Amino acid sequence: MEIVSILVNIIIFLSTLFSYFLITKHKKSQRCIAKLPQGSMGWPYLGETLQLYSQDPNLFFASKQKRYGEIFKTYILGCPCVMLASPEAARFVLVTHAHLFKPTYPKSKEKLIGPSALFFHQGDYHTRVRKLVQTSVSPEAIRKLIPDIETTANSALESWASGGQVISVFQEMKKFSFNIGILSVFGHWESNYREQLKENYSIVEKGYNSFPTKIPGTAYSKALSARKRIREIISEIICQRKEQRLTEKDLLGHLLNYKDEKGETLTDEQIADNVIGVLFAAQDTTASVLTWILNYLHDNQKLLEAIKAEQRAIYEANEEGKKPLTWGQTRNMPVTYTVILESLRMSSIISFTFREAVVDVVYKGYLIPKGWKVMPLFRNIHHNPDFFPAPHNFDPSRFEVAPKPNTFMPFGNGVHSCPGHELAKLNMLVLIYHLVTKFRWEVMGSESGIQYSPFPVPLQGLPTKFWRNE
Ligand code: HEM
Repeated sequence: MEIVSILVNIIIFLSTLFSYFLITKHKKSQRCIAKLPQGSMGWPYLGETLQLYSQDPNLFFASKQKRYGEIFKTYILGCPCVMLASPEAARFVLVTHAHLFKPTYPKSKEKLIGPSALFFHQGDYHTRVRKLVQTSVSPEAIRKLIPDIETTANSALESWASGGQVISVFQEMKKFSFNIGILSVFGHWESNYREQLKENYSIVEKGYNSFPTKIPGTAYSKALSARKRIREIISEIICQRKEQRLTEKDLLGHLLNYKDEKGETLTDEQIADNVIGVLFAAQDTTASVLTWILNYLHDNQKLLEAIKAEQRAIYEANEEGKKPLTWGQTRNMPVTYTVILESLRMSSIISFTFREAVVDVVYKGYLIPKGWKVMPLFRNIHHNPDFFPAPHNFDPSRFEVAPKPNTFMPFGNGVHSCPGHELAKLNMLVLIYHLVTKFRWEVMGSESGIQYSPFPVPLQGLPTKFWRNE
């Protein structure tokens, strides 16, 4: 009997060894057969960085796609990269095989936001923090913010119109989005600190895209100091909350109250990094899209009239705006909503994202070597005529039918997709409601074009004059 059992064990062992050998061989042969995608790696060290930054980056990507197809290689900012311009490839990287690709950011940027911010993580820690962020900006949470968003939108619009001056829409929208960001992170609680936070944030922002050096006086070193001050302000707020045992339902409250199954809480450092990260993610994104919306509506008077009619009906139902907007009303603005979606598509302010392959990966016979960056190109997909006919025409009616799956990703896709998308859309709907029912605007200046700051926005942030309707 014993001999039989020994023999059985030997057979099991040998067959396991044999199948392991076959699988490894298969994987190796797959890797051997797989070839790098087509494309050019440019000059030694420099790669194609100069080509990318000396022209409109969208032209760079579009011309590459035309030449090499939907997957191509290049070398930029010191890294070999594979660019992916098809919905299937983007889904492969961001959703179905997300575990093979990790988020990757330059260390200098990670330092400014804070290394514990969720963007930089994968796995367990990321999932836990992401859940807290998602809960704090879920539809159930943000519907309670509507009255505050209305007040913030109204006071912004009143100040633009009452000054009688030409303003940069982008700069003003940044203030608006920052105030809402503060509201969702700290509730009403922080009002004493808001101005200090805003001031230091704008210094961090200036350093974010500058050359990273600690030499005193440079934008980057000033940004590091401002980041330190923001951290101190957040520590003070955390201290006060802990002392007063407040259990608020805003993001800070969720981060402070978190306990894992072993009773472990988040450190103050982790909390601060995530607060700073969320404020950062919320501000320029929402502000850029809002600026584009005003630009597109200004250029499409017929559409503006359609939006006005839709919003006017709600305004009248609310007794000439005396009654507050309801959550239900914000969910039933179909014309305005399609304008927002088309603006997100046309402007594609997040043109692409970065990941890094954690192992050698084979996709459709192409090798993506371990350590290479991969870049799903959202803008190329959003501007592909196969998915969006006449892609350069601003046509919100195309969103009356849902786009093909995975072809529309203004908020990304998969485990790192934007948790703030509902809040961003709510901000836009509320601002547009107050704007078109009570104000009018005229874009000033004859120059049209795009500037990158770093997201694309109309030149000079769209210089505009606002008036209150009589
Ligand atoms: C129109 C406005 C916005 C746009 C277009 C936008 C777009 C995006 C995109 C494309 C990503 C995914 C990036 C990637 O996969 O690498 C992302 C992530 C993120 N967004 Fe937004 N976003 C907007 C507004 C907001 C707001 C208002 C918040 C505030 C809660 C926010 C918080 C975040 C966070 C925390 C992440 C990282 C998620 C993670 O790594 O798990 N965003 N956003």
